[in-house]
Amino acid sequence: MTSLSDIRSTFLNYYGRNGHEVVASSPLVPRNDPTLMFTNSGMVQFKNLFTGVETRDYQRATTSQKCVRAGGKHNDLDNVGYTARHHTFFEMLGNFSFGDYFKDEAIAFAWELLTKDFDLPKDKLLVTVYHTDDEAADIWKKVAGLSDDRIIRIPTDDNFWRMGPTGPCGPCTEIFYDHGDKIWGGPPGSAEEDGDRFIEIWNLVFMQNEQFEDGTMRPLDMQSIDTGMGLERIGALLQGKHDNYDTDLMRALIEASAHATSSDPDGPGKVHHRVIADHLRATSFLIAEGVLPSNEGRGYVLRRIMRRAMRHAHQLGAADPLMHRLVPALVQEMGAAYPELGQGKSLIEETLKNEEVRFRQTLDRGLKLLDDELAALAEGVDLPGETAFKLYDTYGFPLDLTQDALREKGRGVNTEGFDTAMAAQKAKARAAWSGSGEQADASVWFDIAETKGLTDFLGYETLTAEGQIVSIVVDGSPADAGTGAVQVVLNQTPFYAESGGQVGDAGTLKTDTGLVQIADTKKVAGVFIHIGEVTMGEVRTGQGAVLSVDEDRRAAIEANHSATHLLNEALRETLGDHIAQRGSLNAPDRLRFDFSHQNGLSDAEMAQVERDVNRLIRQNTRVETRIMTPDDARALGAQALFGEKYGEEVRVVSMGTKADSGKGVDGQTYSLELCGGTHVDRLGRIGAFVLLGDSASSAGVRRIEALTGQAALDHLTEQGALLGQAAAALKVPAGEVATRVKALMEERKALANEVAQLRRDAAMGGGGSAAPDGEDVGGVSFLGRVMDGVSGKDLPALIDQFKDRLGSGVVLLIADAGGKAAVACGVTQDLTDRVSAVDVLRAAVAELGGKGGGGRPDMAQGGGASTENADAALAAARTVIGGVA
Ligand code: ALA
Repeated sequence: MTSLSDIRSTFLNYYGRNGHEVVASSPLVPRNDPTLMFTNSGMVQFKNLFTGVETRDYQRATTSQKCVRAGGKHNDLDNVGYTARHHTFFEMLGNFSFGDYFKDEAIAFAWELLTKDFDLPKDKLLVTVYHTDDEAADIWKKVAGLSDDRIIRIPTDDNFWRMGPTGPCGPCTEIFYDHGDKIWGGPPGSAEEDGDRFIEIWNLVFMQNEQFEDGTMRPLDMQSIDTGMGLERIGALLQGKHDNYDTDLMRALIEASAHATSSDPDGPGKVHHRVIADHLRATSFLIAEGVLPSNEGRGYVLRRIMRRAMRHAHQLGAADPLMHRLVPALVQEMGAAYPELGQGKSLIEETLKNEEVRFRQTLDRGLKLLDDELAALAEGVDLPGETAFKLYDTYGFPLDLTQDALREKGRGVNTEGFDTAMAAQKAKARAAWSGSGEQADASVWFDIAETKGLTDFLGYETLTAEGQIVSIVVDGSPADAGTGAVQVVLNQTPFYAESGGQVGDAGTLKTDTGLVQIADTKKVAGVFIHIGEVTMGEVRTGQGAVLSVDEDRRAAIEANHSATHLLNEALRETLGDHIAQRGSLNAPDRLRFDFSHQNGLSDAEMAQVERDVNRLIRQNTRVETRIMTPDDARALGAQALFGEKYGEEVRVVSMGTKADSGKGVDGQTYSLELCGGTHVDRLGRIGAFVLLGDSASSAGVRRIEALTGQAALDHLTEQGALLGQAAAALKVPAGEVATRVKALMEERKALANEVAQLRRDAAMGGGGSAAPDGEDVGGVSFLGRVMDGVSGKDLPALIDQFKDRLGSGVVLLIADAGGKAAVACGVTQDLTDRVSAVDVLRAAVAELGGKGGGGRPDMAQGGGASTENADAALAAARTVIGGVA
């Protein structure tokens, strides 16, 4: 039997041999198409090559493309398990020409591959063409020798393929296989075409037009080819099966499911096994690409597929979570063609298991509620919408899961009632928000959230992506177009919106008509607001836009954010377990971390923390992110942020290793934190960590500021340069600067003392111990002097020295203090009951244009406007002394 793997390689080899570049499948989450939730055909990754916007160094390509059709426009989820050919995940084989070959060769290649390499009988094949496409019909006649009755002209859009409302499109030709008259059904275009006799196996699209928003269609400059053949379909055909689920690959997964549940793959649980096999593929591939279950956007589609499978596993009576146990079988079957499955195996298993464990907690009770409700309902009546909403809201049943469960019982759901209940809940959330007084003008964002949906964040995986502008807000109100200051909302974005201390991203947003410089990104009610300035042209609501995050800025922010996690742990290790985060800022140029702690950090503690963080950076281990319940996260030892509210699941970021830390799955994780931010992929990217200092932020809360990466190195360089300048000025090596400065300061102090002493000595008349001359004023020895080169603060010491030398007498000194007069007067103790220093001083000061002055009878000080009238001042002093003597 030819396996699906063989068929895949036969196809790729055939086109490879014929000059086609064998290109790898692009991701399931399209990076280049804002309108698509998931890649749903082979041409998605080549979209811009058909319109000529992009060129590559090849003009022919072939791929086996991973596709998901579950959510958005193409949604096959509801039918999976019940039909022979529906899948949520499938592989599309395709060949492409970008302005190279056209109809002739495309048809000739397809015919040769099918009838030679795949060896299909020619008489079983027939084709359709677009009704006006004579050219294609002629080529089929010529190349394949098909008779007219085997070339069916179809006038409908079935044979005019469009990738969407806009973009490249063109007529197509489809190849059908006739399973023979034992199976009911008619050829395409007939009344019985829905039967299973004639099965479409390949679609060849002649890309020759482009459809525009205004409804016009114009010919493309070049003519191209896009083809798509479902691997599972051609596989079934080549393996002689009528059902895709009977092919080797799908069968292996079904048997794994049967084995794990000890049930019969073809017994009463057949549908369950088929659902499980299909959903195992879709969920595993999505998880391998980093899509994780959530309640919004792609993450919610993933959750819906997962939970749908999990209900079917439950129906099979599986006592334990089942899905994760089937991952090895999937890796065995598909891991060689898609290495991401093997690489992501543990993440896939862990995510599936967590989700199933969690969902099982409510599944039984939800199903019981459903049964009770149904028992009370009259025959044929739909389940009320409120009940479906309760199942959704309280028991985690996605609406399609409830519908799937009811399908088996021949019932539906009143979806209008469900929508009403959902709208009521949203209105309540909105009222609660406005009540909180957080942001008065938030209602515009709530309107957008309700009418356009929430923004899907792509920025964990990519920094550039396309998004569709769903709203432009100018001056607080939605506008059709914007110039100048704008706030732009898109359906998806790689821009991180400010939260958890991490600042919002900046970058550019480009459309066909304008360019916006985005300065900041915020979010309200799940809507990401890109705040910026239109610097060229204008941007319009509804346009597709290319979003590019400023990569260097984001990298610097991430380095700071990851370093904050390491710092948090290093502080705990150095200071103790009482450390709790009280706030943080992760900006491009610095980080700030507030934490509960009483005292300032000592130099030794700072050095220890800095050393620890840098040691972890050098470990250069991978930063891992997982999604789990808050309880599971706490069980693993995760640090939860104080006062933060968490939803059903949390992101847990682990970093670094530490033997026996007891944290994380391996018990060896250094830091484990609940965090929705973005981080470096490996710790080495932080580069370096430098603590700037620690200060008190508020009572019992310390604040640390630090730098990482280039900013840290720049800081060190700057510090080095400053030290270098100091060393050069001191003329010593850098290592001796401190000792030298200390020595200089001591020397300076000694010199200053010496100078003061010399000044005093000079003032007293050249030193020595000869008694100074005091004049006799009425029997009292009086010494009055105007001093040069002496400052006011030297006067008291000089007064004391003169008093000592006089033995008995009155001393009055007048010094020039920067143009003003400083005056001091001293009276020896034996005379203080006769002469008061205060009286003498006041008399002198009055002459010098001053006022007051004071002190004690033995010592008084004051000041005057200038020393000009010093003689008069001395005379006034004599008068006071003479008067009392
Ligand atoms: N793009 C074409 C399809 O998906 C081939 O059918």
